[in-house]
Amino acid sequence: MVAEEYVLVTGGAGFIGSHTIVELLEKDIPVIVVDNMTNAVGGKEDDELPPVLQRIKSIVPPEKSQRMVFIKGSYGDEEILAKIFTKYKVSSVMHFGGFKAVGESKKLPMMYYSNNLGGSMKLIQVMQKHGVTKMIFSSSATVYSEPGPEDLPLTEKCPTGNCTCPYASTKYFIENMLKDLCHADPSWTVISLRYFNPVGAHPSGSIGEDPKGIPNNLMPYIAQVAVKRRSHLDIFGNDYPTKDGTGVRDYVHIVDLAKGHTAALDVLDQKKGFVAYNLGTGVGTSVLEMLKCFSEAVGRELPFKMCDRRPGDVAEVYCDPSLAAKELNWRATKTVADMCRDLWSFQSKNPNGYAS
Ligand code: WQD
Repeated sequence: MVAEEYVLVTGGAGFIGSHTIVELLEKDIPVIVVDNMTNAVGGKEDDELPPVLQRIKSIVPPEKSQRMVFIKGSYGDEEILAKIFTKYKVSSVMHFGGFKAVGESKKLPMMYYSNNLGGSMKLIQVMQKHGVTKMIFSSSATVYSEPGPEDLPLTEKCPTGNCTCPYASTKYFIENMLKDLCHADPSWTVISLRYFNPVGAHPSGSIGEDPKGIPNNLMPYIAQVAVKRRSHLDIFGNDYPTKDGTGVRDYVHIVDLAKGHTAALDVLDQKKGFVAYNLGTGVGTSVLEMLKCFSEAVGRELPFKMCDRRPGDVAEVYCDPSLAAKELNWRATKTVADMCRDLWSFQSKNPNGYAS
């Protein structure tokens, strides 16, 4: 019997990783999930499946979800990785793992460089040792140098670097490390997916975004206002040169984003070297528009206050997603209304996230 080939998913208990695992299992692709659970709600016992993975088993038919193996640990732990690569046949790695809080990264840069950059280096070195040379990397729109209005929409040719925070710099540095690796060793192929603003939840309402502590990002914060965990939304600035004065971003449904990863996996073997793709809708939506749309999904007005701008924010960011359409045959299909409907379905069923 031919040994099963697995996709190793680091950070698979997280928001994007978990939604991607659903899509992989639905396509009968066996998955090994590695997550140290620092940023996700863990199982009661160490060997117990974390709630998010238990819920994946409720979404995906048993004959498919039985192909998910969970290993609690860090993607930078060489011992754990060596055991995995020795025990299982890993065809490729989807690397989601990493700390991702912008503000925290400014306070604790070395924690971010050690975990995100150092951990990724360890992962890559173990992959090399075991002859696994295919990776899909979870990157970010934040690797682009701060865009002015004349730079929009952002294409993959736009300049990267001069990032606004250590979190973004780690993504930028990891991309460059992978580029250099691919130049040095032509057996390597890396597809780097640059996410714009992932929001929403799986339509089942079983899995979604469950940030620890106070949400940094807009939509999980608004969702927590809706379930009365937060008193109101602070809108960071209404004096930007945008359609209504509030910040404009390219929001993309998390299920569309997850499908972008399986689309990349489908062509990974046909690619060579390092290639980056924007995953976004190409449409900019303002904070006030998102608030209005989410209020419509909830069925009532949500309280907010106008506040000063948040340092480091730019007025407007959205992408040109045409390269992913052309080369990955991937397009975002879901609307902002879909994002808000599905986010509300998850948050209303899980007011306290997975802890509930
Ligand atoms: C969106 C808009 C805010 C919160 C993130 C991070 C990072 C990256 C995605 C992966 C902005 C406004 C927000 C709030 C507000 N992910 N806002 N009140 O700023 O695009 O950055 O992009 O790499 O997570 O870099 O997303 O959701 O934080 O903010 O008014 O309480 O909402 O000013 O205009 P952003 P965001």
